[in-house]
Amino acid sequence: MTDEEFYGPALCTLKAAEQFLLEVIAEYPAVYGEQGADFPVKSCQSRIKSAESMRKKLKARGFMTNLHSALNDVYDAVGIRIICGFVDDVYKIAAWIEKRKELEILQRKDYIAWPKPNGYRSYHLCLRLCAGGAAGTLAEIQIRTMAIDFWATLEHQLKYKQKIPCEELIRKELKRCADEIAATDISMQTIRDMLENGFCEGLEKDTES
Ligand code: GTP
Ligand code: MG
Repeated sequence: MTDEEFYGPALCTLKAAEQFLLEVIAEYPAVYGEQGADFPVKSCQSRIKSAESMRKKLKARGFMTNLHSALNDVYDAVGIRIICGFVDDVYKIAAWIEKRKELEILQRKDYIAWPKPNGYRSYHLCLRLCAGGAAGTLAEIQIRTMAIDFWATLEHQLKYKQKIPCEELIRKELKRCADEIAATDISMQTIRDMLENGFCEGLEKDTES
C-alpha cells in the first residue's frame, strides 16, 4: 500500500506539519561568541512514517491498522530528528522547543539521563501542533548529539536483520560503544565549558602554587 493510499488527503496535513516544525526549529537562535556565530542545530532530518512501517507499528501495538489509529494512537506519523554537537545543546534546544506557544508538549522521554538497556541515548518530545494549517497534528521530535546519532544509525540496522551473526557479541560491543560515546560526549562538554568559561585559569594558578 502506498503512503497516498494509506494516508489519503491527511498526507498533505502531515507534510504541512513536518514543514511547520522545520520552520519553528530554524528559528532556534544562533549563539554568538569569540568565534562568531555558532548554530547549535547541526542538522535536522524529517520524515513522514511510511504506510508500511506505520501499519507494522500499529499491528505490533494491537491497534487497528487504519488512518484514525495512525493519527491518534501513535505520535510519530511526523518525525523530526535534531542533531547537535554537545549534550548541553540537547537540553537547551529541548527547553526552547518546550516553551514554544505553537506546540503543546504531551510527553518527554529523557533517554540521556535514563539510557535504554542497549545504550540508546536521546531526548524525545511528543507534541501536538496548536497553530497553523496542520493544528491538531501529533509529532515526535528526537534530539541527540552527533556522536550518539552515529551510533544509533548502526544500531538501528539490528531491527531489520532477520538473522544477526554473533548477535550476543554485536549487542555487547554496541553497548560498550554507546557507553564510550556517552563518556566522550561528557568529556567534550567539559572541555567546551573550560574553554568558554575560563575555568582552567583557576586550575593553572592552583598548579603553579
Ligand atoms: P517506536 O515504536 O520504536 O517508535 O518506539 P516508541 O514510540 O515507544 O518510542 P521510543 O521513544 O522508545 O522510540 C521512538 C523512536 O526513537 C524510534 O522509532 C527510533 O527512531 C528511536 N529509538 C528508540 N529506541 C531506539 C534504540 O534503541 N535504537 C535506535 N537506533 N533508535 C531508537
Ligand atoms: Mg518511532
